[in-house]
Amino acid sequence: MNNVMNTLTNLVHWQLTRENDGTAWAILDRQNASTNVLTAEVMAELGLLLDECERQPPKALIFKSGKAAGFIAGADIEEFTHLDTGAQARDLVRRGWDVYQRLAAAPYPTLALIRGHCLGGGTELALACRYRIAVDEAQTRIGLPEVMLGIVPAWGGMLRLAQKVGAGAALDMLLTGKSIDARRAKSIGLVDACVPPRVMDNAARTLVNSGRPPRTLPWLQRLLNGPLKWLVAAQARKQVARRAPQKHYPAPYAILDTWAHYAGNPLAVPADNPAAIDALIASPTTKNLLRVFSLQERLKGFGKTVPDFNPQHVHVIGAGVMGGDIAAWCVLHGFTVTLQDQTIERIAPAIARAAQLFAKKLRDNKAAHFTLDRLIADPQGNGVRRADVIIEAIFENLQAKQDLFADIERRARPDALLASNTSSLHLAEIARALQQPERLVGIHFFNPVAQMPLVEVVASSATAPLAAQQAAAFVRAIDKLPLPVKDAPGFLVNAVLAPYLNEAMRCVDEGIAPETIDAAMLAFGMPMGPIELADTVGLDIALAVGRQLIAADQQPKKVAALVAEKHLGKKSGQGFYLWREGRAQKAAAAPAPAGLQQRLLKPLLKAAAECVASGVVQDADLADAGVIFGTGFAPYTGGPMNYRIQHPDHEYSSKTS
Ligand code: NAI
Repeated sequence: MNNVMNTLTNLVHWQLTRENDGTAWAILDRQNASTNVLTAEVMAELGLLLDECERQPPKALIFKSGKAAGFIAGADIEEFTHLDTGAQARDLVRRGWDVYQRLAAAPYPTLALIRGHCLGGGTELALACRYRIAVDEAQTRIGLPEVMLGIVPAWGGMLRLAQKVGAGAALDMLLTGKSIDARRAKSIGLVDACVPPRVMDNAARTLVNSGRPPRTLPWLQRLLNGPLKWLVAAQARKQVARRAPQKHYPAPYAILDTWAHYAGNPLAVPADNPAAIDALIASPTTKNLLRVFSLQERLKGFGKTVPDFNPQHVHVIGAGVMGGDIAAWCVLHGFTVTLQDQTIERIAPAIARAAQLFAKKLRDNKAAHFTLDRLIADPQGNGVRRADVIIEAIFENLQAKQDLFADIERRARPDALLASNTSSLHLAEIARALQQPERLVGIHFFNPVAQMPLVEVVASSATAPLAAQQAAAFVRAIDKLPLPVKDAPGFLVNAVLAPYLNEAMRCVDEGIAPETIDAAMLAFGMPMGPIELADTVGLDIALAVGRQLIAADQQPKKVAALVAEKHLGKKSGQGFYLWREGRAQKAAAAPAPAGLQQRLLKPLLKAAAECVASGVVQDADLADAGVIFGTGFAPYTGGPMNYRIQHPDHEYSSKTS
């Protein structure tokens, strides 16, 4: 290939190169950044690039990323957080809408070559092209996550996605915000081809110059994305209402209305309509969700790489509920893991669970098989000598953990990171068994490991700052969100959750039905009711944590009786609920007694405030982030501390703060 550099020297983020046959490449490589984000500047330059292509039309134009990290991560969320008025929001929308309209109308064929993440405005750019190719790699993910931030895909996503994939598949992506991989993108028609990386450039050249007509929908799909939109929208609305009530989450409803009634054009929605950008930008939910997004970025920032710390091998001790799943998760993220327990029989179930996880996540038998090869059963504990990171997840018993760490310290490499997954013991107490107590850090995962995004990184008074930093970097390397916390009882998440579960279980003691309690908190926006949550966590664990954190005279009674009868919740098939096939068997909920929601929230809000006051977390923002990502606390509220500020009339705020 013979490239001719273009004369567009005034662009700093884009490069336009032309090959001898006239095919041009628009390469986005945002200056001084590791990720491509569509800032105002990047979008303005895209406009200039299209001007140039108008002056000298290429034979074809291919969009590609110059970053190793991915295609385009989306719009610059930072810019959204500074929008104060509807007019400003409309300006921002118009900027992207207009430039993508121009791209879509280009007289020459266009193609987006998608490798790695392609999100939000990146996906909308790809949709405005005539063709799309996705590179078949695990990192390739395509999606429109705007709804999760309380906003809408306003640069053409609501118009073009359904034209490519049909209304059903489009609404699924638009309303859940979930991204899909390259193969799924091909199977639903979002991309025209899914190719291995080594042939991607040639595949792009061939397709863009093929003269192939762009994909169109079959006639039934055209009806559903045309005259029958109202039918699809009514159906989708019902589904959304089950998950996300409009008063808490306006964005999915705005997406549906904009798609169904305004041809997917947010600028066509009258400013006084609830589906308008103006209304969304003014909604507290949107502000809160945007804030939660930036808090998530802040958590990621704690996991910055640490010089000379490049762990490859993790040794996990204890192959139970937690250790087994931690080991599998580390393997899934590229680590080699040796997994130790007292006998091989105790390790086997963890390996079987790991195989299931890999099959589900990788959806490729060969890849799942190779991944499983990196999970090594190690009943003798030989891996301790070689490991870069050693994670202990044995029974919650101080003496057992101390004995274990004393032995580990003798055998481990001097630079290995030593971590405990304890949830209720003092890290400093465990560390007393070590010659060098500064080496021990807490890496506290939540159950189920594969689903919970947060991991608390616990530093005791003895922990060396470097060990805590390494632990946070490791947590990030396995794609979790690290939250630094102090070595206080329950750390942050359990300290906040336990009083809430406790109060819910006290309500059961008073005769309120579990169904009524759970329904009240689901209506508040929790992902699961507190009684079902206690049953899911395990009533033995809920009881033990409660005993550690709650005064004796405040502890609920029925839970103790259930545990005495070995009714431990989901895992034993019976707890507050009867469980069948992993589901709680619930009767209809009665109307909640007045004030039930507030009564249940009160101890949670109080505990969160106490954790901030006593420095368990650095500040209120981190408490919000931890409670949202560690418990699923209703995200639209922006977290418990933010909720207190936005609801100064709450009983807790007025009486106890
Ligand atoms: P578990 O009872 O499921 O598993 C513990 C495993 O450790 C057992 O398989 C046991 O054979 C093994 N073990 C015990 N002593 C050992 C030793 N000396 N050497 C090798 N293996 C040994 O326990 P689970 O629930 O996985 O908890 C483990 C740790 O994780 C505890 O510290 C717990 O506090 C913590 N944790 C538990 C959570 C949960 O929801 N279960 C959540 C977060 C932390």
